[in-house]
Amino acid sequence: MKIVVTGGTGFIGSHTVVELQEAGYEVVIVDNLVNSTIESLDGIEKITGIRPAFEKLDLTDKERTFDFFKSYQGIEAIIHFAALKAVGESVFKPLEYYSNNLNSLMNVLAAMKEFKVDSLVFSSSCTVYGQADTLPVTEKTPRKKAESPYGNTKAICEDILADYSRAEQQLKLIALRYFNPIGAHPTAHIGELPNGVPNNLIPYLTQTVAGIRSQLSVYGNDYNTPDGTAIRDYIDVVDLAKAHVVAIRRLIENKNKQNLEIFNIGTGGGVSVLQLVNTFEKATGKKVNHQIVGRRAGDIEKVWADTTLANKELGWKAEVSLEETLRNAWRWQEKLQK
Ligand code: UFG
Repeated sequence: MKIVVTGGTGFIGSHTVVELQEAGYEVVIVDNLVNSTIESLDGIEKITGIRPAFEKLDLTDKERTFDFFKSYQGIEAIIHFAALKAVGESVFKPLEYYSNNLNSLMNVLAAMKEFKVDSLVFSSSCTVYGQADTLPVTEKTPRKKAESPYGNTKAICEDILADYSRAEQQLKLIALRYFNPIGAHPTAHIGELPNGVPNNLIPYLTQTVAGIRSQLSVYGNDYNTPDGTAIRDYIDVVDLAKAHVVAIRRLIENKNKQNLEIFNIGTGGGVSVLQLVNTFEKATGKKVNHQIVGRRAGDIEKVWADTTLANKELGWKAEVSLEETLRNAWRWQEKLQK
């Protein structure tokens, strides 16, 4: 069964391709490589023994997107990861974010209609909840206005899916709201490749330990949390990848209950920045040079997922421990140094 994975050479995409291939699916990757490298294919091949088909394609180009669908017959489903994702950058380049993230989704949806592909899994984000009034957040927790253009693109993409699913009853859509994806494949053949100075906590932390950065800034210790630092729900990237496989299977087997379903994909538990630093030190035996600095603009205080719905409906739950995830992230960083 052929699955198209857009953004399949990226961090979450490449791990998902591995899990799909290990589950027996045939994968075609589409990526424009603006934020990933073709070498991901080598890593995927080393792990699974299969080199997935690859098409370099910018999905904002509608004509080329349609040509791609025309040339690949028998596509069963699509997982749409391809998007720009840097929260800070999106504040300075809002038009690029809206144009890229919205047009690529709309072109994929239009091509699905034209070429009669009904199933799609979409990468959404817990960013759509903003700072929720009650925790943990369930899928019914009201969404709040996003803090960044990037976050807003995720909310608008969800709205596009909702409207389109009402107009096109044959569609089967699942949006997965990821919490904070971290880690790397345990083989260290694939992992996260941040562009330039990392914005996210884990790549910054591992680069600090590797000596590339002098110290990790911990943004704020005056939050209303037990140790004062902000709380997130850190989900292992392989666990997250597996959620996509079960979502695809649900759609292909027609087990979905509505034609747009939304699931939180997190561990169900919150971890503070300092807890994470301490866990990393314990898990790897490495010291993390860090210093408390002021809050980062736009950060929320705390969020973690209620994953009951994904547990019940998808039969999915996070399995990898935080220690293991952090060891994998470190192993990947060490490999990048070699
Ligand atoms: N942090 C630091 N120091 C750093 C980097 C981050 O203390 O150098 C802190 C942040 O302040 C935050 C936590 O670590 O409290 C996590 O920050 P990340 O940048 O790793 O992740 P965010 O929660 O800000 O954002 C991530 C993804 C977004 C997604 C969002 C949803 O990057 O794509 O989760 O909450 F939208």
